[in-house]
Amino acid sequence: MNIYEFIKSRRTIRKFRQDELSVEQLNKYIDAARVAPSAANIQPLKYVVVKSREMSEKMFPLVKWAGYLAPDYDPKEGERPTAYIVVCADTTIRKAGYDMDIGAAVENMMLCALADNVGACWMLSIDRDEIRKLLSIDEHLEISCVVAMGYLAETPKEASVENGDIKYYLDKTNTLCVPKRGMGDVIIKTV
Ligand SMILES: Cc1cc2nc3c(=O)[nH]c(=O)nc-3n(C[C@H](O)[C@H](O)[C@H](O)COP(=O)(O)O)c2cc1C
Repeated sequence: MNIYEFIKSRRTIRKFRQDELSVEQLNKYIDAARVAPSAANIQPLKYVVVKSREMSEKMFPLVKWAGYLAPDYDPKEGERPTAYIVVCADTTIRKAGYDMDIGAAVENMMLCALADNVGACWMLSIDRDEIRKLLSIDEHLEISCVVAMGYLAETPKEASVENGDIKYYLDKTNTLCVPKRGMGDVIIKTV
């Protein structure tokens, strides 16, 4: 698969096999995030790695899954993430204006993981106060988002947007279908 096909094959994963991820693997994904583009190369992003089964179980109720299909599509026991990476911005390095850095870093992280057959769900619907308490994250670290991870146990697919409806859905085979706007919808013009 070339890089174009690989990028196109990535879908958000919300069902995971229970084989554990190694520290080396998780560090590799953070290394990929570490070298992502950063505005003015300020690099304010820092990461907390949640790897143990005990802590992963404690993280689970602090994140919200698949808004359009909740709660039916929430990962069940035996399908839950085996690791989480909490993405923080160090406000002593940069106070604001790092959102695009986060986008680039998280995408790098997720694509690097996918190369190991590790799926990811980028999550903004999270309980930041409780995550801060659980992981003892200092106040100067702004908690931006969480990336839930684990080996893939589902294969969602791209679908086309019908009548403007972008909500993901389950088809007859219970496969998650993710409507994406077509090329004709996203290119404004080529001059
Ligand atoms: C910034 C951001 C926040 C997201 N937050 C959540 C979330 O809290 N919970 C969740 O289940 N999915 C979340 N997602 C995943 C999106 O639902 C998913 O990317 C979208 O449905 C498109 O699917 P795809 O990633 O397979 O292309 C988030 C994605 C992004 C980019």
